Amino acid sequence: MSTILITGSARGIGYELAKQYAEAGWRVFATTRSPEKADQLNALASTMENLTVHRMDVGDASSVSAIKAELGDQPIDVLLNNAGVWGGLETQTFQNMDYDNWAFEFNVMAMGPFRVIQTFLPNVLAGQQKKVVTLSSQVAAHVYDHLIGYSYASVKAAVNRLMTGLATELKEQGVIVVPMHPGWVKTDMAGDVADIEPSESANGVRDVIGKMTMADTGTFLKWTGDIHPW
Ligand SMILES: NC(=O)c1ccc[n+]([C@@H]2O[C@H](COP(=O)([O-])OP(=O)(O)OC[C@H]3O[C@@H](n4cnc5c(N)ncnc54)[C@H](OP(=O)(O)O)[C@@H]3O)[C@@H](O)[C@H]2O)c1
Repeated sequence: MSTILITGSARGIGYELAKQYAEAGWRVFATTRSPEKADQLNALASTMENLTVHRMDVGDASSVSAIKAELGDQPIDVLLNNAGVWGGLETQTFQNMDYDNWAFEFNVMAMGPFRVIQTFLPNVLAGQQKKVVTLSSQVAAHVYDHLIGYSYASVKAAVNRLMTGLATELKEQGVIVVPMHPGWVKTDMAGDVADIEPSESANGVRDVIGKMTMADTGTFLKWTGDIHPW
């Protein structure tokens, strides 16, 4: 049975990924900041033996260490950094920048994935597939012609660079590292104006992960499998 750990899986794309992987028979470690509030995820876990809910705040090193201690050396085939935050457009413009929020976003979406990979690398190395995927965004790319949100976009650009660096560093150990744009998705983050449903995004992300090989490591991919220029 293949195994996956997903961050931020109580709602949005993360929930849909957890659900689809569990339905496909994977062993799913579904993590959330607040298991006590994760009603939808807990309901899913109550019907599926192969999905368990665990606490992890990716912005808090002690929280990441705690779940590592809980899971021990269990192999993880796919490590999926999904957790993300969007502080709102009005506080990340040139005229009005919330610097505390910028630092918060950096901690969650750039340092967070780095911290999670650093912590769970032994588990990934013990897995069969050795795949690490981090959900980034098209707004990280220079080719995306309008910059929406200076802090969010810069943090997603930073995590792309971190992932290309880790792709190089971990290649010899057989680990495939890919930053991925999941589409513009109708979640709490993007709202109903977005293009696609979480189920379509998760389906695409799963398909791409299934087909990923070492030839893809360090490449910024879309949920469709196409390369995202950046
Ligand atoms: N939606 C889009 O159009 C879109 C486009 C490009 C990229 N993305 C990226 O895709 C990922 C998922 O986005 P989404 O649209 O599903 O967002 P969402 O619906 O707002 O969900 C975000 C998830 O991240 C979790 N989270 C936030 N901070 C966390 C932390 N410190 N530790 C652990 N979990 C944390 C949230 O947990 P709580 O429930 O505890 O708040 C929630 O489960 C994000 O990285 C986002 O940047 C989304």
